[in-house]
Amino acid sequence: MDRVPEKELMEDPGQVRSYAEADFSSSDSDFISRLGSFLANSNRGSISKQKVVLDLGCGPGNITERIAIAYPNWRVIGVDGSEEMLNIALQRQVKRQSLLSRVEYLNIYLSPDRISSSTLCSCADIVVSNSALHHFPSSISFWETVTAASSSGTIVFMRDLRRPTSTKVCLSLMKKYVSNCSMQLRKDYFASLQSSFTVEEVRHQLASLNLSKLQVIELEDQYLEVFGEL
Ligand SMILES: C[S@@+](CC[C@H](N)C(=O)[O-])C[C@H]1O[C@@H](n2cnc3c(N)ncnc32)[C@H](O)[C@@H]1O
Repeated sequence: MDRVPEKELMEDPGQVRSYAEADFSSSDSDFISRLGSFLANSNRGSISKQKVVLDLGCGPGNITERIAIAYPNWRVIGVDGSEEMLNIALQRQVKRQSLLSRVEYLNIYLSPDRISSSTLCSCADIVVSNSALHHFPSSISFWETVTAASSSGTIVFMRDLRRPTSTKVCLSLMKKYVSNCSMQLRKDYFASLQSSFTVEEVRHQLASLNLSKLQVIELEDQYLEVFGEL
C-alpha cells in the first residue's frame, strides 16, 4: 500500500477533542512498561538519577505524564506544534499539581533547525515519541530533530503505527481497534495507518542518516518500535 501522508499538526478542535477523549490507557501503559524493560535490560545508567526526557509530538500529554509519574526524578518536556493539543495537556497538568515542577510543555514546531537553535539542542538524556513520526511529511526531518536534541549516549525509545500491506488489512485493524470509537477517531486512525511507515522504510531512513545503531522491530499487529542509544 502506498503511503498517503496525513496533515502534520493536529489543530482542528473536533479532531483534538476526539483524540484526547479516546481511551489509549492500555497501549500507553504498555509503552511505559516496554520503556522500563528496555532501560532495565540494558546498561543505561541508574534510572534513579535525574534525567531530562523529551517527548516529541506529545499531543495531550498522555505519555509525558505517565513517564513523569513512573520516574519521580526525571524532568519531562513534552513538545508539540499544536496549541490545541497543548491546551489539553496543560488542563490535565493542573489536575496533577505534584507534576507541575517536573513536567513542562513547549509549543514548538519540531524541525532540526528549530531544535538546534533552541535550549533543547543536545538537552535530552532520553528522547521518546509515540505516534508522531507518521505525521511528519519528511521522516528525515523527524530523525534529524531527534539527533539535534540528543548527544552521545542519549537513549531513543519510540513507537508508531506501521503501514499495513493493504486496505483490507487497514479495515480489519479498524474493526479490531476502533469499531466502538467516534467517527472522527475512526477516520483519523485510517488516515494514520495510511500515513505511517513500514519497518523497512524506517530502517532505510535510519541507515541513510548513519543511525543504524537504533533497532527497529515490528510490535504486535499495528506498531513498530525504535530503540537504542546514540
Ligand atoms: C497522533 S498525535 C500523538 C500524541 C501523543 N504522543 C500520544 O502518544 O498520543 C501526534 C502529535 O504530533 C504533533 N506533531 C506532528 N508534527 C509535528 C511537528 N513537526 N512539530 C510538533 N508537533 C508535531 C501533532 O500536532 C500531534 O499532536
